Amino acid sequence: MSSSLSERVAFVTGGASGIGAALATELVDRGAEVWIADRQIGRAHEVAQRLSGRGAAVHAIELDVRDAAAFERAVTDAMHESGRIDYLFNNAGIGVSGEIDSYTLADWDDVFDVNLRGVVHGIQAVYPIMIRQHSGHIVNTASMAGLTTTVGQASYTATKHAVVALSRSMRVEAERHGVRVSVLCPGVIRTPILIGGEYGRINAPGLTREEFLKSWERLHPMDADEFAKRVLKAVLRNNAMIIVPGWWKAWWYMERVSPALSLRLSRRLLRELRKMESPT
Ligand SMILES: NC(=O)c1ccc[n+]([C@@H]2O[C@H](COP(=O)([O-])OP(=O)(O)OC[C@H]3O[C@@H](n4cnc5c(N)ncnc54)[C@H](O)[C@@H]3O)[C@@H](O)[C@H]2O)c1
Repeated sequence: MSSSLSERVAFVTGGASGIGAALATELVDRGAEVWIADRQIGRAHEVAQRLSGRGAAVHAIELDVRDAAAFERAVTDAMHESGRIDYLFNNAGIGVSGEIDSYTLADWDDVFDVNLRGVVHGIQAVYPIMIRQHSGHIVNTASMAGLTTTVGQASYTATKHAVVALSRSMRVEAERHGVRVSVLCPGVIRTPILIGGEYGRINAPGLTREEFLKSWERLHPMDADEFAKRVLKAVLRNNAMIIVPGWWKAWWYMERVSPALSLRLSRRLLRELRKMESPT
């Protein structure tokens, strides 16, 4: 596939912030027409306005990915105006941090509804269109948390493991329809989600947002724009699994080669997290 995306149409959920906004920017810079779909419609408009005039059309559309009927309607609107969808970036996501004994049922539901059901709603709305086109590429955003053992974010990790699994199944099934499927596993990227984002939260009463952010800094967050450039290159290569920054692959290999070592490291991480929360 050529690296120019002119005449291509992309639909990006969670496109108003962080990774989604950076992906939208890179898509526009490569010539694609882009639909920025987000619950934060004001911010989606701001991103669309910033990107308009740089290439093909950029649209902002209000969408709560938890609502399957609303997802169908948004995709119908995009089809009506643009005539096709070549890329679906199922990117909207939230995190609720904290240990399982701090979770309410609502904490589980909120994360499952956005990170897992939201992805499923996107697939249900767009896959039939791509099957009819006999072309298209669905990129589901999971996380390194979908490939490894993590602590202090079990609901998030559960959804991201599910997104990795469903994407790999779908990649194989979709081949006969000419549809590509990739799963994106970011390491740590500097975006608002690191301190809860607009719709997530941190259940760690002993820590301020600044202290929480400092704990992420140790993992060297990557700038979202640089991240998006690397991701788009990998999407155009049709990589099944996209892990950026690349050094996170080492953790994934370790998880597979020695699950016991991964558990030991996770225990250590948890001890450090608990110490940060209650230093005495
Ligand atoms: N930043 C990281 O380090 C990191 C690491 C791994 C995976 N991810 C994943 O990347 C994706 C993007 O996250 P980000 O880092 O850009 O965070 P972000 O908070 O900057 O962006 C998330 C976007 O999703 C939107 N959103 C949330 N709930 C929604 C809903 N119900 N319907 C529609 N839009 C909704 C938000 O409004 C926001 O614009 C998420 O799936 C996240 O889990 C991020």
